[in-house]
Amino acid sequence: MQNHLLFNDNNIGFYQHIKIDTFKSFAELQGFDTCIDVATIFPYLQNAKILLELGAGYGRVVRGLLDRGFKGKIIAVERVAELIDYLKIHIPEIVVLEQQDLKKLSLDVAPDAITWMWSGILELSPTEQAHTIQHLHSLMAKGGRLFIEIPRKVKYVGVHIGEQRIKVEAEWGKIDAYMPRHDELLDYGHQAGFSNITWIEYETSKLERIVYIFEK
Ligand SMILES: C[S@@+](CC[C@H](N)C(=O)[O-])C[C@H]1O[C@@H](n2cnc3c(N)ncnc32)[C@H](O)[C@@H]1O
Repeated sequence: MQNHLLFNDNNIGFYQHIKIDTFKSFAELQGFDTCIDVATIFPYLQNAKILLELGAGYGRVVRGLLDRGFKGKIIAVERVAELIDYLKIHIPEIVVLEQQDLKKLSLDVAPDAITWMWSGILELSPTEQAHTIQHLHSLMAKGGRLFIEIPRKVKYVGVHIGEQRIKVEAEWGKIDAYMPRHDELLDYGHQAGFSNITWIEYETSKLERIVYIFEK
């Protein structure tokens, strides 16, 4: 059996041990510090009533939404305890869930927008990616939108070790990643039951990126 069939759980150490300043400097290195990704999707989610941010990290996306005047309720999911504490202290305006795994998240409300930005989906194996997109579809309100942001090319942080396999290695941990192809993403979406899938190509100051919008 190929060992990459499940790998998201083994990636947790990277974010348990990364320093917040280093995390922020990665965002800057890739041109995400300006939240150009959030600005790109903002017109498509600004009227959402309940927005779920997956893998919220230190709150970059959440902060980008609030700075742009987002008025809905924001629920943040993160599994690393130190990052959850950081979010609670620094962004008290939002709801931070207690250490949930986005792969099997349970919610008592149905979000009408879900953001999964900065290559978050790449940190799951293909099997996990497909299952998680199905699961997210089941959580969402009808007419809701799921935003998945990925690179068009991999640069700066990861090295390709196969056509679609990427490894990020640092002194404090490693991430195994899988870059889904365009047709795989569309398959995930159609199999999950999304009624419409579109995408927007955009650029940060450093990278060529793309956001997929899956509409339920
Ligand atoms: C690349 S960072 C993105 C942070 C933030 N969304 C942003 O765009 O700035 C990925 C984040 O997802 C979190 N994460 C990864 N797998 C997760 C899982 N299964 N459940 C919850 N959070 C997860 C990591 O701990 C990390 O904070």
